[in-house]
This record gives sequence, C-alpha cells and structure tokens, in this order.
Amino acid sequence: MDTPPVRVALLGAGTVGAAVARRLGDRADLLARRVGAPLELVGVAVRDLTRPRDLPGVAADLLTDDPDPLVAGADIVVEVMGGIQPARGLIERALAAGADVVTANKQLLAQHGTELEALADREGRGLAYEAAVVAAVPVMRTVREALAGDEIRSIHGIVNGSTNYILDMVARLGVPFQEAVRQAGDLGYLEADPTEDLEGLDAAAKIVLLARAAWGVEVGLADVQRQGISGLRDTDFEDARGTGQVIRLIASAWCSGSASEPRVEVAVRPTPVAADHPFGMTREGTNMVIIEAESAGTLRLTGAGAGGDETASAVLGDLVNLARARVVARRRA
Ligand SMILES: NC(=O)c1ccc[n+]([C@@H]2O[C@H](COP(=O)([O-])OP(=O)(O)OC[C@H]3O[C@@H](n4cnc5c(N)ncnc54)[C@H](OP(=O)(O)O)[C@@H]3O)[C@@H](O)[C@H]2O)c1
Repeated sequence: MDTPPVRVALLGAGTVGAAVARRLGDRADLLARRVGAPLELVGVAVRDLTRPRDLPGVAADLLTDDPDPLVAGADIVVEVMGGIQPARGLIERALAAGADVVTANKQLLAQHGTELEALADREGRGLAYEAAVVAAVPVMRTVREALAGDEIRSIHGIVNGSTNYILDMVARLGVPFQEAVRQAGDLGYLEADPTEDLEGLDAAAKIVLLARAAWGVEVGLADVQRQGISGLRDTDFEDARGTGQVIRLIASAWCSGSASEPRVEVAVRPTPVAADHPFGMTREGTNMVIIEAESAGTLRLTGAGAGGDETASAVLGDLVNLARARVVARRRA
C-alpha cells in the first residue's frame, strides 16, 4: 500500500493499551485495508520504563516515559492511561495540535468531557470514546448514531461488572455478601480503589456519558442520585429472594421533559428485579443496557463491559473510523 501511514500514538500500555498494541500488530493488514492506509504505531507512553511488558512486535525504542513529544507528532492519539492528569492536558494538546483522539477514560469524560468535546469541535477534530461506556458493547454508538433520529425515553443498565459479579454470587450461589466482596477483590475484579465500583462511582460516570449523548443536556456526576452496594446486608438479599427477586446495581437515566425541553434525571441504585427479568439473568461480570426509544421500542445490548481485549475492540473501532475519515480527507485535499 503506497498511501502514507496514519501515525498513532498510544498513551498507556496497561490492560487496555497492551491489548491495543498487540492488535495493531497482529491485525495490521486487516486494519490497513479497512482504513485505506497503514496504521503506524509511532510511540507508546508508559509511567515505568523498567517494568517487564508483553508487547510482541513493538520495538523497545517506541516506549517512552515522556508522552508530550508523542502527542505533538501524531495523527491520532489513543489515551488509555486513565486518571485526570496528565491525561486531560495531553488530550487538550493533542487536539490543539491537530490530532484526533480516542479515549477510554470515563472518569475524565464525566468530569471534563463537555469542555473536551467543545475543544474538539473548535479544532475540527474527532474525540471518540466508545470504550469508556461498557467496553466492547456498542452502546454509545447506538445512542449517538443509530438512534440519532429517534426520541430516547430511558436508559437502564448493569454497567459495572465487578458489582454484578458480587450480587450474582450472593443471589445465585448463596455466598454471604461480605465473602462475595472479598472473592471479587481476590480475583482482581475490583479497581485498586474498590469504592469506584462498590459506591457506584464507575456506574455514575457511565450513565452521565449516556445521558449527555441521549439528550444533549449538561448532566454531571453531582446530578446522579447515587447509592452503592456497600450498605447492603444479607437480610436485603433474603427479602428479595423471598419475593422471587434478585438485587442488581442499576444505572438509570430518563427524560420526563419534551424533545425541545428535556428534563433528565440520572440515578445509580441497588434495585430488586425479578429473577427472570433480563437484568436478573445477567450473570457474573456481564453488562446489559436496555434503551427505550419512541420509534425503535426496546433495545437490549449485552456483553463484556471490561477486559483488555474487549475494551481494545471498542478502542480500535473508534481508531479505524477516525483514521478512515482522515484518509478520505487527505484524498479530497
Ligand atoms: N481495564 C478495563 O477493562 C477497562 C475497561 C473500560 C475502560 N477502561 C479505561 O481504560 C483506561 C486504562 O485502563 P487500564 O485498565 O488499561 O489501566 P492500567 O492497566 O492501570 O494501565 C495504565 C497504563 O497507563 C500508563 N500510565 C499511567 N499514568 C501514566 C503517566 N503519567 N505517564 C505515562 N504513562 C502512564 C501505565 O504505565 P505503567 O505500565 O508504566 O504503569 C500503564 O501502562 C482507564 O481510563 C480505564 O478506566 C478500562
């Protein structure tokens, strides 16, 4: 292929970043065909250069602990380092320098996504983040693109796999609640800071992003009526079981206003649901989102909401779409 490559900078080579790097290597030909030009990995930023890494096909000299020069020289920046800073500043500098950006960073987007989207618009660049909400399951794209001509009424979802694993262990296998929390921690299912999952902060960030996409309103984390699962007691589960129900952590957004004047509410709460409801049957770490739209009716999307390769699938989808748009724009120029 004699088309000049699209230069990709990768910020982060952890669970998600390493999976993205591996797929850029082993799917290089496929991705090049879909983009219309090769995707060239021009650098990988990490925090600790001495850490051993499983990055086959990535030349050692592509690794750096100085992300700034990478951002300045790339066509597309993939931010999978997480956290607020330096990720925010790097994304801002990338957009200002004319790069498109793909990110999986839900907390950054929930806190500063509106400003970042405004900057991307001013610069005429793309900011894509399918991976930030339910990883491999194309929920953002469904809300933003597939339903762009419809009126969404509500979105309800199990959007945090770790808490669903815990609640499912209690409901289905009768594991005592605190023991299920401990098991989830031992299996590495909980974030380093477990309050992200247990207090519903992770779910809150995702439902905020979905609500903004669905209704174009400025909803923030402070608007979320939020209750995590850490206050649940074994008696709560026994009460639910007695009525044929199970408890799930449900993130919800609903619009009670009109299309021209939407009034949007957002909540994250442990909620009893019938054991044979699709949410009640959502097992272990699986995620599910149910969208109600005026014309489309009820849509149900389900699948892996976390995991390196699963999240990389969504990151690469955004990357291919942005790269393809760049190649088309180059041809027209
Ligand atoms: N893991 C999932 O299943 C999942 C799912 C959906 C979304 N996400 C999102 O994806 C992002 C990445 O998650 P992850 O699980 O891959 O995280 P991770 O395993 O902790 O990896 C983070 C990577 O970023 C690098 N990094 C962190 N701070 C840095 C800095 N200041 N400068 C340079 N490099 C830095 C780390 O370097 P070192 O390797 O040297 O420490 C590491 O390679 C997060 O925003 C997360 O919320 C993750």
